[in-house]
Amino acid sequence: MSATATPAPAKTEERIEHKGLLEVRGLCTYFKLSQGWVHAVEDVSFTIEKGESLGLAGESGCGKTTAALSILKLLPENGRIVSGDILFDGRNLTKRTEYGMSKIRWKEISMIFQGAMNALNPVQETGKQVAEPIMLHEGLSEAKALDRARELFELVGINPKRVMDYPHQLSGGMRQRAMIAMSLACNPKLVIGDEPTTALDVMVQAQILDLIARLRRELDLSFILISHDLSVMAETCDKGVIMYAGRVVESGTTEHLFRDARHPYTRQLIRAFPNIHERREMVSSIKGDPPNLLEPPPGCRFAPRCDERIAGCDEVDPAAVEVTPGHFVSCHLFKEAT
Ligand SMILES: Nc1ncnc2c1ncn2[C@@H]1O[C@H](COP(=O)(O)OP(=O)(O)O)[C@@H](O)[C@H]1O
Ligand SMILES: [Mg+2]
Repeated sequence: MSATATPAPAKTEERIEHKGLLEVRGLCTYFKLSQGWVHAVEDVSFTIEKGESLGLAGESGCGKTTAALSILKLLPENGRIVSGDILFDGRNLTKRTEYGMSKIRWKEISMIFQGAMNALNPVQETGKQVAEPIMLHEGLSEAKALDRARELFELVGINPKRVMDYPHQLSGGMRQRAMIAMSLACNPKLVIGDEPTTALDVMVQAQILDLIARLRRELDLSFILISHDLSVMAETCDKGVIMYAGRVVESGTTEHLFRDARHPYTRQLIRAFPNIHERREMVSSIKGDPPNLLEPPPGCRFAPRCDERIAGCDEVDPAAVEVTPGHFVSCHLFKEAT
């Protein structure tokens, strides 16, 4: 998230009508490889309101991180947003320049990166690293930014006296709290947490999820929580989107997804991660592997692994069906309620 962008001439930007604080509409993001294009995110749509938390779940490799990096336009060199719109607070981020995006990152949307806990610079004091985006984006002096870092430490439950500690002097849980402090440094409206608790043990994981829930309430934050573990989403989120092989297979409120999961993939994921308070490893694995996204299978991408496959699943892509209001499933087993 470099902030060293050169100023561009000010342009008036058309404000766009859209749903919620963030609306992702028909997003397709591909990666170019010498063999062809990896269809990492295909026609993904979701919305998030102010103060709402949305879970993005699915096995590893199903496109969660790519969707998040698309929102911030931080894709690796070979990644492209091929189509779709990302509408944030009246602006279309897909149309924004790099300079325009540098105004959004940290200040309006921030991200806790996957594996971020190890991303702190080992040779710089932790609080200085938290102060850095504040100095860059708010133009504060180092002393003032460090004062703010102390406040942020307090907010996330680290003794502010530890602001000059190096990362190795902090526990894993404290380092993750520091990363969360950094994500909040410039008062963003939306925070994206990419597997923010995955590397932590059960107890600390629960504490970090509690912290996120408290911060969301206190700061009226919108939050996208990415996890391969569905039980994490059950604890923390108002609603969820289940992705499989780059596509959304099911979406709805947390209640819809946990009490009334319809898609065979969602049901298997729930079985794999039944309870946040007990074992963290997969208790039952889903047989087979996700498909190669260089050549996704025709029809439903889950069909080759699905026990409930029926005629047509291998050929026709299932459209999203609203099984109950606000609960969408893309599976040939379900037809629109009439
Ligand atoms: N830079 C890249 N180049 C090519 N393929 C990539 C790149 N980054 C991710 N992918 C592929 O895109 C797909 C989605 O990856 P990712 O978004 O990281 O999934 P998740 O976060 O759900 O684990 C995977 O098939 C992955 O191998
Ligand atoms: Mg990921």
